[in-house]
Amino acid sequence: MTLDALRRPLSSLRVSVTDRCNLRCAYCMPEEDYGWLPSREILSFEELDAVVGAFCALGVDRVRLTGGEPLVRKQLSTLVKLLAARPQITDLALTTNGVLLAEQAQALREAGLHRITVSLDTLDPKRFAALTRRDQHAQVLEGIAAARFPKGLKIDTVVMRGVNDDELVPLLELAASHSAELRFIEYMDVGGATRWSRDQVVSRAELLQKLGSHYGKIDSLVTESRAPAERFRLPDGRTFGIIASTTAPFCRSCDRSRVTADGKWFTCLYAEQGIDLKGPLRRAEPLGPLLTSGWSARADRGAEVRLALHRQRAALKTAGQLRADPHLEMHTRGG
Ligand code: GTP
Ligand code: 5AD
Ligand code: SF4
Repeated sequence: MTLDALRRPLSSLRVSVTDRCNLRCAYCMPEEDYGWLPSREILSFEELDAVVGAFCALGVDRVRLTGGEPLVRKQLSTLVKLLAARPQITDLALTTNGVLLAEQAQALREAGLHRITVSLDTLDPKRFAALTRRDQHAQVLEGIAAARFPKGLKIDTVVMRGVNDDELVPLLELAASHSAELRFIEYMDVGGATRWSRDQVVSRAELLQKLGSHYGKIDSLVTESRAPAERFRLPDGRTFGIIASTTAPFCRSCDRSRVTADGKWFTCLYAEQGIDLKGPLRRAEPLGPLLTSGWSARADRGAEVRLALHRQRAALKTAGQLRADPHLEMHTRGG
């Protein structure tokens, strides 16, 4: 097992297959214009598979494909098939906004994808259009209906005060109707969230209080320690999760890192610098030593450091800083 400076193992990898996205969610891409990674810099599926292979050799057994929006990358199921053939990977998942899912679900299932997470922040089409600047709510609902995978479906909801915090109960009901587990996510001050303010964060404590006043007593469930979501149970037995990255970060047990579509490796969501894997890969140098030394040196606690800022906390980066270095964007490093 490869351990970092805080004795955290290297076991989960998020692979961003594209920085492009077909939505413009207010918490992630609120600006009018974006600079994109040049297409010649984007790793091919064979290259991405080789990168994942190098991580698997060091102990990674959970891989999640992300974006931007991963399904805008053509023929993504080809990559899924390559990865599904790797016996070390016991959990192969994908995070999507759902817009293109209905048309791709079957190909992804046949390629061997284990499970899927769809983002859905509202049940109201007009609100969806305002939140994402695209009128594609119906496609997302079709995508959710088509999302049948062997290890199930999760739905992720970023809760923002004054935007969708009045929809907690209807969203839970929708998830139940698809046998999906819903996770409420606290609005985070990540790169991309240039309009972030603490007033708009609905904390775990507040979420539990709102849900409790509707459903009655909510029990906390003990979960595997490395998952970002804490799980809870309603009186009727249904479960849901809360990802409290903003008010109760899980850095101490964080075993995840992320690779961008152009092959930069970030050991934290908040890391300023990435480690270039594309150069060595294209020069046919082995990646193992680079990964081992990078992980051994890792002491990142990005979300905890943000929390310690208390009242001075504001948006992480300005739009100008993000334009100067798109690698700082959440949609580049994988949401
Ligand atoms: P499971 O494996 O199903 O538990 O999924 P996951 O929670 O790892 O994946 P998902 O893509 O659904 O992530 C949910 C949300 O958790 C993200 O969209 C982020 O808001 C947050 N998140 C994911 N990775 C990190 C991370 O490295 N650090 C922090 N602080 N938050 C993260
Ligand atoms: N806060 C919380 N989650 C975010 N995501 C993107 N930006 C943010 C943010 N500012 C996550 C959401 C979304 C996924 C693709 O990325 O979970 O569903
Ligand atoms: Fe929204 Fe995800 Fe696209 Fe960001 S990457 S704009 S969160 S769908």
